[in-house]
Amino acid sequence: MIATSLLALASLIVEATGQLSPTFSRTLSRDGRCIYSFTVPSPQEASCSEAAEALAAVRELQTYRTAQQRALESLGERLRLLEANPPGESLSPAPKQQGEVRRLQMEKLDLLRRLENMKQENIHLRAKQCPDSQQTLQDSHQGGRQGVSSLSSRQKTQPDRGVYNWSFENPGYQELKSEITEIPASRLIQRGDADRPTTTLQQSSGCGMLEWVGEPVTFQKADNIVGKYGVWMKDPEPAPPHNKESIWRINTVGTDIRQLYEYRDLDQFMRGYPNKVYMLPEPIESTGSVIYRGSLYYQKRRSRTLLRYEMKTETILVRKDLPNAGYRGVYPYSWGGYTDIDLAVDELGLWVTYSTNQAQGAIVISKLDSNTLETEQTWTTAIRRRSVANSFMICGTLYTLNSYSNHNAIINFAYNTNTNSTKVLNIPFENRYRYNSMTDYNPAEKKILAWDNFNMVMYDIRLSKV
Ligand SMILES: *[C@@H]1O[C@H](CO)[C@@H](O)[C@H](O)[C@H]1NC(C)=O
Ligand SMILES: *[C@@H]1O[C@H](CO)[C@@H](O)[C@H](O)[C@H]1NC(C)=O
Repeated sequence: MIATSLLALASLIVEATGQLSPTFSRTLSRDGRCIYSFTVPSPQEASCSEAAEALAAVRELQTYRTAQQRALESLGERLRLLEANPPGESLSPAPKQQGEVRRLQMEKLDLLRRLENMKQENIHLRAKQCPDSQQTLQDSHQGGRQGVSSLSSRQKTQPDRGVYNWSFENPGYQELKSEITEIPASRLIQRGDADRPTTTLQQSSGCGMLEWVGEPVTFQKADNIVGKYGVWMKDPEPAPPHNKESIWRINTVGTDIRQLYEYRDLDQFMRGYPNKVYMLPEPIESTGSVIYRGSLYYQKRRSRTLLRYEMKTETILVRKDLPNAGYRGVYPYSWGGYTDIDLAVDELGLWVTYSTNQAQGAIVISKLDSNTLETEQTWTTAIRRRSVANSFMICGTLYTLNSYSNHNAIINFAYNTNTNSTKVLNIPFENRYRYNSMTDYNPAEKKILAWDNFNMVMYDIRLSKV
């Protein structure tokens, strides 16, 4: 019945758009879970020039994705409800089932309404025909229509504007690969005692287990489409000429991401004027990079190669392949975006999380030597990488976020590399802007930095006393 509903929704989407052909599949995993997958190809506007085509496609995709995502989320929710109360097992199944049917009907209507809006948007876009690229870029800066943020007049003089490479390659395709994976927590954890006491964590550095995450505070909003996803960073152990006030930012939508923006302090960051722009010698992949001890550590585009770029000398000091790591959409976080390899810094130093074929998609954590990028130690968790939205390290423990788009997400698992054990958590985490593409911890400030749908936000946290 559930699969039928999903298929019905899928075909509704196809009818309403008349041009996209999403594919739907249901597979049974080895451990008995049902995996519902939904894949939508990037649409083409064959008659348009390249930039105009890309922009139109991006808009269309964003609108479409939102509708699709909501439908899938609510279906996922219902799936869980039905799994928790399967017909026949509950004492009074009938009213529950009827309630579900009513809700399904309401949601279908709602979905149809949204799709109608999308159609209107498409009509509007086509009515504009195919303006030349420059015109379209201008328009996107000033448009402020759905999915494209507006640019204030103050920001028009901003130096980091207009230097982007606009030749998109299947814009948004990765992100469109939504997937609902229902994994009961009890089946996820295959080993380990969750509550074994920690023994060797650095107690002096104020370490502990994450207990609470505050509300996001917004510091900056990207002013055009290349800033829908990105990463913003501080250096917990800065090297001169930088200090703990310095901030860096990379917009990561596009095919050839090389600009690293540097800001002297939060004030400059909020005003949007970079102090310096570095051109990286190698392009960057996705939102997994970190800044640590004066270097930017990042994944080279289309590779499993990690690079250490020293800002002082503006050179790549070290390059090292991450053995067997999946990349380019093999084991990404649930939102896609080629987030297969994610670097992290905590009180203990530099880490990287990824997955391998041997680990069958489970999150693998490696502690790295920050000078050489050599792997010091590796742990394989039982947390499926594609089933979580993001992750970060605090005091040698990996924390995972269950959703990138739910307003009320939760930190759902913790994997302690000191005890090799997984713990189920339920710590509320707000995705205020409903598209969280980066979540990192800063051990110097004990705060979480995130990039949520154009917005650069920060969260207070509380750790337990060990
Ligand atoms: C933009 O990207 C294309 C394709 O990746 C590349 O060939 C071109 O050199 C880039 N242009 C600039 C200005 O970076
Ligand atoms: C945890 O796993 C690591 C890496 O596999 C191993 O070296 C270590 O001995 C394990 N520690 C415990 C407490 O089981």
